[in-house]
Amino acid sequence: NWKMGDFVPLEIARIRDLVGDRALVLGAVSGGVDSTVGAALMREAIGDRFKAILIDTGCMRLNECEEVKETLGKHLAIDLTVVEAGELFMSRLADVSDPEKKRKIIGSTFIDLFEKEAIRIEKEAENTPNTGKVEWFLQGTLYPDVIESLSFRGPSATIKTHHNVGGLPERMMNGQGLRLIEPLRLLFKDEVRAIGRQLGIHESLVNRHPFPGPGIAIRILGDVTKERVEIARKADHIFITMIKEAGLYDQISQAFAGLDTNRSVGVFGDQRVWGYIVILRAVRTKDFMSAEVFNFDNSFLMNVSRTICNQVDGVSRVVYDLTSKPPGTIELE
Ligand code: XMP
Repeated sequence: NWKMGDFVPLEIARIRDLVGDRALVLGAVSGGVDSTVGAALMREAIGDRFKAILIDTGCMRLNECEEVKETLGKHLAIDLTVVEAGELFMSRLADVSDPEKKRKIIGSTFIDLFEKEAIRIEKEAENTPNTGKVEWFLQGTLYPDVIESLSFRGPSATIKTHHNVGGLPERMMNGQGLRLIEPLRLLFKDEVRAIGRQLGIHESLVNRHPFPGPGIAIRILGDVTKERVEIARKADHIFITMIKEAGLYDQISQAFAGLDTNRSVGVFGDQRVWGYIVILRAVRTKDFMSAEVFNFDNSFLMNVSRTICNQVDGVSRVVYDLTSKPPGTIELE
């Protein structure tokens, strides 16, 4: 029976109570609103015993890692450690095209890296007075993630493995004796945004479109390579920049450009090219459990298509996804 206004002080008190005055908390931060709000709560509750890590999977958006590090440092006084792991993710994802396999590989690679970080942080903290061990792991899990990861009719009914809900914690928890701390587990996205505002998090961050943990890897249909990530990333940057310039960003809940790794023939000048197909997706939703397609003017979409074909090498065609959720999911995989 809590009201939104009470959430922040109640949650901070709960975190302090749970964690005590010595333990360290390791937190995965992605730059999205969920993990940022989670991190801000932890920072408020336990100060620099909260250790924030961003894993650079090589599948983040253009310039994202640097921007997130700067924003967290400047606005939340959080000293973010960026773990550069693009090569590792790419090598483990080589030739894998099955969406669930991709998610499992990404999830277990995240755990490997968090385990390493937990050990490194503990070593570092050994000589700090009144500091204990890494006992907790923060996740920005939301209520819809919890619901979608539940299996209602046995394992085959699982909609998809969210890397921050399924699989990930268990091995880590067992292996390390870490416990999971999920301050947002009962909240919907709009509630997280409201709390972000209460915590004074900058509007540009609070209103940011969500970005999945596995990143661009689940926006590429087929196996992921560095070249394909690069193409999807450039196309995405163009699409999002044009959406912002048209003043549409805040009317859309989530937009991105993904890639079909089947290729299609196109003509550029007098050359025939065999290029990838960029898939544009933009949806409106309140809770991310169902969503409707955003209704752009055709002229806007044609302009985006022209710009992407002209500026991104290796693309011969651009399509707009007209599928609502259900039956489509928001991400492509
Ligand atoms: P779907 O594709 O399931 O997406 O309709 C619903 C919302 O969840 C995000 N999403 C994820 N977020 N890890 C995340 O952190 C994941 O594995 C994941 N899969 C989907 C998606 O971006 C959308 O906002």
